[in-house]
Amino acid sequence: MSERRAAKPGPRMTHAVCPGSFDPPTLGHLDIVGRAAGLFGRVTVAVLINPAKQGMFTIEERLELLRDAAGPWPNVDVDSFGGLLVDYCASHDIQAIVKGLRAVSDFDYELQMAQMNKGLSGVDTLFMPTSPAFSFLSSSLVKQVATYGGDVSGHLSPAVHAALLERLDELRADPF
Ligand code: PNS
Repeated sequence: MSERRAAKPGPRMTHAVCPGSFDPPTLGHLDIVGRAAGLFGRVTVAVLINPAKQGMFTIEERLELLRDAAGPWPNVDVDSFGGLLVDYCASHDIQAIVKGLRAVSDFDYELQMAQMNKGLSGVDTLFMPTSPAFSFLSSSLVKQVATYGGDVSGHLSPAVHAALLERLDELRADPF
């Protein structure tokens, strides 16, 4: 008999999480969320509550922007979390973490997190290559370019773009 054994079928993975800061969500994020929605029965987009970092958008604003953007996918819901991602996964019966990889430069850090998360709780991370159109895109780059008047409309949903321009106007009017 062959030494090779057929892989033991595991429980079907139905619930995945796409975690992140989403400050703000870009079309690159939505590319990953939409593709994950095609692969999993349920996908939760989870926004990290990070008290150590003040974002451009509040957590509530990010949730609202994501809920609006996730409208087309009936199996996608949006939530926030604090603390460890693995604890959120355990308490919400989430079997997989889905992360987008834009370039090799993402890989080192993402691999560290994936291995740490696996060691902490056994939850697996699946890496999904970002579509080439979004491989250079990041929330921080979008904010920086928009702050100095660059056109970022092609990288954001219309609602997120409008929210970003509005926030930049507010910040210019009252920088403190
Ligand atoms: O969009 P980001 O900032 O790259 O997302 C990073 C995120 C939220 C996925 C990561 O920082 C995270 O999972 N934070 C939660 C705290 C945690 O579990 N830390 C240990 C990771 S091994």
